[in-house]
Amino acid sequence: MSKTIIISNRLPLQLQIDNNTIKATPSVGGLATGMKSVHRDSNGVWIGWTGLTEEETPEELVDDVAKAAQDAQCVPVSLTEEDIDGFYYGFSNRTIWPLFHYFMEYTEFEKESYQTYVEVNKKYAEVVLENIEEGDTVWVHDYQLMLLPELIKKERPDVQIGFFLHIPFPSYEVFRTLPWREEILKGLLGSDLIGFHTYDYQRHFLSSVSRILRHEVSFNEITLKDRIVTVNSYPMGIDYDKFADAAAKHDAAKNQSELQRRLDLHIDSTPDAKMILSIDRLDYSKGIANRIRAYEYFLEKYPEFKEKVRLVMLAVPSRSNVPQYQLLKKEVDELVGRINGKFASVSWTPIWYFYRSMPFENLIDLYTTCEVALLTPIRDGMNLVAKEYVATRTDKTGVLILSEMAGAAQEMSEALIINPNNFEEIADALKQAMEMPEAEQIKRNKFLQKRLKRYNVEKWADDFMHSLHDTTHKSDIVKAI
Ligand code: ADP
Ligand code: G6P
Repeated sequence: MSKTIIISNRLPLQLQIDNNTIKATPSVGGLATGMKSVHRDSNGVWIGWTGLTEEETPEELVDDVAKAAQDAQCVPVSLTEEDIDGFYYGFSNRTIWPLFHYFMEYTEFEKESYQTYVEVNKKYAEVVLENIEEGDTVWVHDYQLMLLPELIKKERPDVQIGFFLHIPFPSYEVFRTLPWREEILKGLLGSDLIGFHTYDYQRHFLSSVSRILRHEVSFNEITLKDRIVTVNSYPMGIDYDKFADAAAKHDAAKNQSELQRRLDLHIDSTPDAKMILSIDRLDYSKGIANRIRAYEYFLEKYPEFKEKVRLVMLAVPSRSNVPQYQLLKKEVDELVGRINGKFASVSWTPIWYFYRSMPFENLIDLYTTCEVALLTPIRDGMNLVAKEYVATRTDKTGVLILSEMAGAAQEMSEALIINPNNFEEIADALKQAMEMPEAEQIKRNKFLQKRLKRYNVEKWADDFMHSLHDTTHKSDIVKAI
C-alpha cells in the first residue's frame, strides 16, 4: 500500500535521556502540533530528528531510540553535535529564520554553516531514499530542509514531492541578499507542488524565481525544461475538534483550573481582574518585548484599569543556544520585573510570567480562563495560537487581539487587528476588548469559529495532497508536448 512520507527537521516527539532511559515529550511549534493530527490519521511515516545528538546517545540506548521513534510511526535521522551547530543553530536559525522574518540585522551569512546545511539535507535525503517505496508520496516541511526536494527528485524522478513552508517567504528585495539564493530556489524547485500560508508569500516566491532564476512564471506555475512546478497558498488550520472538545471537558471541571487555584490561594487578591493571555515560543519574531511595553503604555494611558487586568504570559524556551534568543530572555525578564515593580500593589501583580513548556491540559486551562488573547508578532508565518484560542471559547465569549503581521490575520478579520509597532493602537484595542459587550464578542467569535471548524488542519492537508496528486497530470502534458 502506498504511503505518505512526512519529513521535517523535528519529529513530533522529542527524546531525552533520563536515568539512562529514553523519555519522550511532545514537540512545541505550529508545524509539529498541526502535522501530528495529519500523521495520526495516515498510514505513513514521519522522518526527522529526535532532539538527541549522536554524542548524547550512549551505545546501549541506540536501539531504544529507534524503538521509541518506531512506536510513534517515525524514522529518526541521526545527527552529530557539529551538524546541529551548523545546520540548526547556524544556517537555519541564524540565517534563514531572521532573514525570512525581515530581521536583517540579526542575519548572519556564514559559508561553513551553509555547508553543514547542505550536508545535513543530504543526510535527510539518504534516510528518505531508504524509506521510499513505489507509489509513495513525499511531503517535506519547512525552512530547515529547502534543499531536500531537489536531492530526492534527482534520485527518484518518479516520486511526487510536495513542500510546505511554515514561515513567511520574504519579498524579493530581502531574499536577494542571501548569498545562496540560487541554490535555495533550485532546491525547492525539486518539488512538484510548493505551498505557502498566504498569497503574499506565494507572490514573493514567484517573483524571486522569475528574477533570480529567470524561469517562466505564471500566476501559480513555474515552467521548467521537463516539468511544471505548481505553487499555491494553503492557510494551515488547527485540529478544531481536539481543542473545542478539550475546552468543553475543561469547562465541566472548572475547579481544576491552575489559574483558579492561584487565585483561590490569594497569590493575588484581585480575582475579578480580567486576564489577558499571551502564549508563544520565546522568539524575537513574536514581538514579546513590544507587547510588554505596549501593556505598560496601556496602564499609563488608562490608569482606571490598574488592578482590573492582568497579563498572563507564557513563553516557551526555544533555540536558547542562539545569542539573540538569550538576549531576548534577558530583556523580557527585565521588562517583567520592571513593570511589576512599577505598578504592583499589595493585592495585585500586573504580569504573571511563566517561562516553560506546559502540558496540553494547562494550555487549555489558559485558553479557556483568559478573557482576552493578545498576540503581537512582528512577523509570523501563520500563528496557530490565535486559532487555538478562538476554538476553545465554548461559550463564544473572549476577544482576540492579533497582529496584522501574522498570516492568521488574513483569515481572522473579526479579531481586533493591530500593528504591533503601534502602542497607541494596542492600548486602545485592549481598552476596547475590556469594554466589548458580550453580544459583540459572541457575534465575532461565531464567524471565526465557523471558519476555523470548516478549514481545519485535515481540510488543509487534504487540499494540499489533492493538489499534489493533480500535479502529475500537468507534468505529463508538458512531457507529451
Ligand atoms: P510557532 O510555530 O512559531 O511556534 P504557532 O503559534 O504557529 O507558532 O504554534 C505554536 C504551537 O505550539 C501551538 O500549536 C501551541 O499549541 C503550541 N504550544 C505553545 N506553547 C506551548 C506549551 N507551553 N506547551 C505545549 N505546546 C505549546
Ligand atoms: C516554527 C517552525 C518549525 C519549528 C518550530 C519550533 O513553527 O516553523 O519548523 O519546528 O517553530 O522551533 P524549533 O527550532 O524548536 O524546532
